[in-house]
Amino acid sequence: MILLIGLAALAVHSHAQSVITLTPSPNPPPGASRPGNHNFPSLAFEKSSFYAYAGNSTHPNLFSQALIDILQSKDHYNASQAAAVVKPHPPDPNGGLWGYSIGPSYFDALANFNSSKYIWMLPMAHAAGLHMGAEALTQAKLALRNIGSKLQLLELGNEPNLYHEQGMHGAQYDVARYLSEALQHEADIEGNVTAVKRVKYQALAYDSGVSHAVWNEEKAFGAGINRNARIGSVSWHYYQSVSSGGVTLRKTLMNHTATVTKLSRFIPNIRHLYNRNANLDFVLGEVGSVIGPELKWDV
Ligand SMILES: *[C@@H]1O[C@H](CO)[C@@H](O)[C@H](O)[C@H]1NC(C)=O
Ligand SMILES: *[C@@H]1O[C@H](CO)[C@@H](O)[C@H](O)[C@H]1NC(C)=O
Ligand SMILES: *[C@@H]1O[C@H](CO)[C@@H](O)[C@H](O)[C@H]1NC(C)=O
Ligand SMILES: *[C@@H]1O[C@H](CO)[C@@H](O)[C@H](O)[C@H]1NC(C)=O
Ligand SMILES: *[C@@H]1O[C@H](CO)[C@@H](O)[C@H](O)[C@H]1NC(C)=O
Repeated sequence: MILLIGLAALAVHSHAQSVITLTPSPNPPPGASRPGNHNFPSLAFEKSSFYAYAGNSTHPNLFSQALIDILQSKDHYNASQAAAVVKPHPPDPNGGLWGYSIGPSYFDALANFNSSKYIWMLPMAHAAGLHMGAEALTQAKLALRNIGSKLQLLELGNEPNLYHEQGMHGAQYDVARYLSEALQHEADIEGNVTAVKRVKYQALAYDSGVSHAVWNEEKAFGAGINRNARIGSVSWHYYQSVSSGGVTLRKTLMNHTATVTKLSRFIPNIRHLYNRNANLDFVLGEVGSVIGPELKWDV
């Protein structure tokens, strides 16, 4: 009985909250961005948990499948659209994310989201010279076999600006080295995986804290990342804050000034891409409010 009263009170309370209406001005302020395309929702899974979210070949995770179907059926269908797809314009080494070993059957899971498109990342941190490492190539082949025609793009490395400081490449690792490696990886995929001829790539994937003065689109494109006209999009990662940095809701996560300041760093890169007029998409490919295991909810 007490429980029922409690539930009723809760229902009334949340109903009262749900009638807040927002009335944005019909006239966008000067300098507002062009409208974003909302047709391409996506979810990210850590490599360490993807298999659990997906399930295996005999026991697919039905909850995940239903969730993705709902997201897609709400946002993705446009009966008058001719193109198949219209793209939108911590780990702490001790934190439990690293050190996993996966076997070939892992890749069966990729077949379980059969209505989704995939961007598959080609890991470059352990490249063999400029070439793809043998493990990276093996995994890419297995993945692409299961992804099949659902492949959207191949991503060239993950947060390459961090390779040097994470001890995975020599001190000389810079934009020029990333470019040479990325172009060699494109060639290695072309040479080894006949099924993905003329695939497009997602470049950069720079980390959230990267120095935009050193690692930016002007430098990467100026030096020839799109030399083969194979880049389809450019990805950046964005975290609003790092948990070790005294994060609070008021100061950091729900602070409009802080959000605007941090996101504004991308404007020159967005403008550069737009001015190239090459139909390249800008993607915030990894986004989170806070990175790091602990957050003090000190409002
Ligand atoms: C798939 O997962 C289920 C449940 O965990 C398990 O019983 C089954 O043996 C697995 N099948 C394969 C082929 O690994
Ligand atoms: C649906 O596609 C048509 C044709 O490309 C386009 O004109 C229209 O803006 C699209 N609608 C939405 C909601 O994206
Ligand atoms: C996708 O998989 C579900 C079961 O997991 C199946 O019912 C459906 O027919 C499949 N759809 C396609 C297009 O293969
Ligand atoms: C296939 O990939 C390997 C490893 O990255 C590379 O050394 C080799 O040159 C590639 N083969 C072709 C034909 O491109
Ligand atoms: C919000 O962020 C700005 C810029 O980082 C900072 O100056 C300001 O003190 C913050 N506001 C609060 C209430 O902490």
